[in-house]
Amino acid sequence: MSLQKVTAKKLIEKKNKREKIITITSYDYSFAKIADESGMDLILVGDSLAMVVLGYKNTLLVTMDEMIHHTKAVSKAVTNALVVGDMPFLSYKVNKTEAVKNAGRFIQEGGAEAVKVEGGTEICPIIRSMLEADIQVMGHIGLTPQSIYQFGGFLVQGKTFDAAKKLILDARNLEKTGVFSIVLESIPWQLAKLITSVVKVPTIGIGAGPYCDGQILVIHDMLGIFTEIKPKFVKYFGNIGKSIRKALETYKSEVNQNIYPDQEHSYEFPQDALNDINKWFNSVDIDEESQKLKKHLF
Ligand code: KIV
Repeated sequence: MSLQKVTAKKLIEKKNKREKIITITSYDYSFAKIADESGMDLILVGDSLAMVVLGYKNTLLVTMDEMIHHTKAVSKAVTNALVVGDMPFLSYKVNKTEAVKNAGRFIQEGGAEAVKVEGGTEICPIIRSMLEADIQVMGHIGLTPQSIYQFGGFLVQGKTFDAAKKLILDARNLEKTGVFSIVLESIPWQLAKLITSVVKVPTIGIGAGPYCDGQILVIHDMLGIFTEIKPKFVKYFGNIGKSIRKALETYKSEVNQNIYPDQEHSYEFPQDALNDINKWFNSVDIDEESQKLKKHLF
């Protein structure tokens, strides 16, 4: 498959052509390489890293340094997809200067091409500062996991008239500020459909139904690797967790039974040298010889 470099502009063109935008998260080189080669339009180094890779109880605990570390690994693997770094909790809402500096780290150190931030109208001035520093920004509204304490948990958002109205207006304000795309997370599909029709930039849904311009999933969720939490919208497109478990059990059993490693997976010693080493081995005191080597070296 020959793939072309995806840019933010191309994603907007895809929306105009009514072509679906397929996106996924990744956190390391090997997964990102597979995701890129599979034709993903955008790869997000999500702060979901906190839960599915680092084992934290929620996304609020991941730091800038941890996010940059993983963004670097992903960027090295990707040639076609647009790489987006997810700005962690407190890295962009304290003040504009810190926000721009931290966003800049994703680009300069992490090798990302854009950043994602959670929030609506209230963070538009911060987004503007990033755009003024030539950093492309992706928005994220609905269930924004960095606000779970405020929401009272991982709860579906936008289910009342007032909440839905706020999300529609937030989307519009984010678009007007200049984001190139907006993630809609865990909102009713009817509301996601409305928002998608009202903004010119692509909406990327996760738990937001089929009418978004694109979709995103956490790769460890959709592959059945992270199974501790399974929101309604998660579909297992593979059961890699089960395959990994099975492979490890087989490995353990084969080593225990001396089945692995066999000749096929072992290196051969050249026959003439083998005779020499065996002769030498049987003729010396190994402790004495090791002492001699140590003395010789130090
Ligand atoms: O952190 C993340 O992975 C995300 C996506 C699920 C949108 O924000």
